[in-house]
Amino acid sequence: MITGILRESGAENRVAMLPSEVAGLRKLGVEIIVEICAGAGAFVNDKEYHDAGASTAHRKIVINRSDILLSVNAPVQDDINSFREGQILCSLLNPLENHVWLEKARLASLTVLALDMIPRTTRAQSMDVLSSMGTVSGYRAVLEAALRSPRFFPMFMSAAGTIKPSKVLILGAGVAGLQAVAIARKLGAVVEVFDVRSAVKEEVKSLGAKFIEVEGAKEDAAAGGYAVEQTGEFRKKQQELIQRHAVLSDVVIATAQIPGRKAPLLLLKDTVLSMRPGSVIIDLAASTGGNCELTENGKTLDINGVKIIGKSDYPAEMPYDASKMFGSNLINLLKIMINKEGRLNLNVQDEILNCTIAVHEKEYISQRIKQILNIK
Ligand code: NAI
Repeated sequence: MITGILRESGAENRVAMLPSEVAGLRKLGVEIIVEICAGAGAFVNDKEYHDAGASTAHRKIVINRSDILLSVNAPVQDDINSFREGQILCSLLNPLENHVWLEKARLASLTVLALDMIPRTTRAQSMDVLSSMGTVSGYRAVLEAALRSPRFFPMFMSAAGTIKPSKVLILGAGVAGLQAVAIARKLGAVVEVFDVRSAVKEEVKSLGAKFIEVEGAKEDAAAGGYAVEQTGEFRKKQQELIQRHAVLSDVVIATAQIPGRKAPLLLLKDTVLSMRPGSVIIDLAASTGGNCELTENGKTLDINGVKIIGKSDYPAEMPYDASKMFGSNLINLLKIMINKEGRLNLNVQDEILNCTIAVHEKEYISQRIKQILNIK
């Protein structure tokens, strides 16, 4: 069986698998062919792939020869015309934005695995690329905030007197938020956290941060560990409490998301206007609408001295380690699709694959994708 690794397009610097992971994939008995210069953005060259046992070729040849294609983001629509019927593609999909792409892939009889649909179960943990990318985003967001802030994060006691530590407010304690808590604490900041899921309270406290609770949050065990949309009354109460904490904060890192929906609005324009000049807001939810009313995705704004950075693509800026984690997650996923003889064994009924396969044999499979796209 042949697995192909595609080169990404646009501003994406990651690659689906680094040479170090290619060597691991070879152990599954798979032949690997990498698109020329696929690793350039992540600072690895073709020779390193050759040394790991892969060959390199032009895109058309990689697509033509591979049984399974790996990429970070869904390839451009034009590529679908060169894919073969029955060919398997594994990539992040963002089904809401790529529904036209996905429908085209379904009609072309491709099998598409949407890595953003990997279920949040213990068995799937080692395959969860969203967790890996959340880790990168949380880390990077805090470092960016620390560099942009005019204040120190840690407390300093020097001959010039004592400098108070920065106050960091984190909205949403999922993977990215918890990583942000850990890094901000390591840098010595005082950290406060909001989330609607009470389950994260203990984790937040164990990282040395304060959990701020808004009573009356709606939780749903059927949401698979994810948050659900809140009532209007709760949102108002939460926005008011967040405002009280935000005006005393030097940095706000916003990470709150609800899968398949617009990000919840947590920081209103009035809150931003009442924050101290020099404060920094990093909105990791920018690509799904932002947690801050003023966020513009991909832009840095200055509102009366408060910087609002709307950025959801930090992993593309840390391409080496982000690619390393991505590739390692992919190997664990491929292990349940490839048998001991190195042949494809795609069990659509497997609980992980059943959630992850978006389309197969011209059918939509993943229930979550069907829900998101409103497909009966
Ligand atoms: P996410 O990216 O969907 O959301 C980030 C955070 O925002 C969540 O903690 C969510 O509760 C919070 N949030 C949503 N609406 C909010 C609001 N109105 N106000 C404040 N906070 C709000 O979350 P992520 O990182 O994808 O994690 C979701 C869940 O999945 C967590 O329970 C996490 O521990 C779990 N998980 C489980 C894995 C596994 O078992 N394999 C792997 C990764 C995550």
